[in-house]
Amino acid sequence: MLIVLPKGRLLKEIKNLLEKIGVSFEDSSRKLVMDTSVKGIKVAILRSWDIPKFVNKGIADMGFVGKDVLNEIEDEENFYESLDMGFGRCRLSLAAYEKMNNSNKPVVATKYPVSAKAFFASKMQNVEIIKLKGAIEIAPILGLSDYIVDLVQTGNTLKENGLSELEVIQDISTRLIINKSSFKTNNSKIERLVLSMKDALNENSKN
Ligand code: PRP
Repeated sequence: MLIVLPKGRLLKEIKNLLEKIGVSFEDSSRKLVMDTSVKGIKVAILRSWDIPKFVNKGIADMGFVGKDVLNEIEDEENFYESLDMGFGRCRLSLAAYEKMNNSNKPVVATKYPVSAKAFFASKMQNVEIIKLKGAIEIAPILGLSDYIVDLVQTGNTLKENGLSELEVIQDISTRLIINKSSFKTNNSKIERLVLSMKDALNENSKN
């Protein structure tokens, strides 16, 4: 069984959780696929945007990924969204530079065009969406866009760049996804893992 984990801020939290349920691994080397303390369970660390792709194709049986990434998937999903892990909490928000000019077709910069499009459609607001890959906050400062739709956690990045959070679009957290056919073929093994994770999360929330 292969479990895929996202590189970056969430990795430590996920690694701790897996350790709690008896699945530990060393990630000090540059090895891409690693054995764990449980025979038959391997882990691989990927970029978060690639995690649903590997789970969708059944290359990985399970993966951890943010709801922000899941929202952007437009293809058919061959996976179940199983658990809300309750960590990696942040929000997808609309923000703008204080000295914004009002135009009738505002430009919105974002890494999340699907979510942004749905949000403005629900408001019947006609916008032009520009997809960027990172450092979204720079777009309104340099005049590329009127608004941004981006993740906000502490709000420090917005504040330091003179941007204001105008509206929370969606609360975000990390989710566990499971490939549909893996779920069928490895049902008891996967169910045991999911149940242990649930227990560990409940324990965490008590402490
Ligand atoms: C995210 C997000 C914001 C920042 C928000 O970026 O895009 O820039 O974190 O966090 P804060 O509210 O706590 O300041 P990330 O660091 O993931 O890098 P990126 O810009 O390359 O996406």
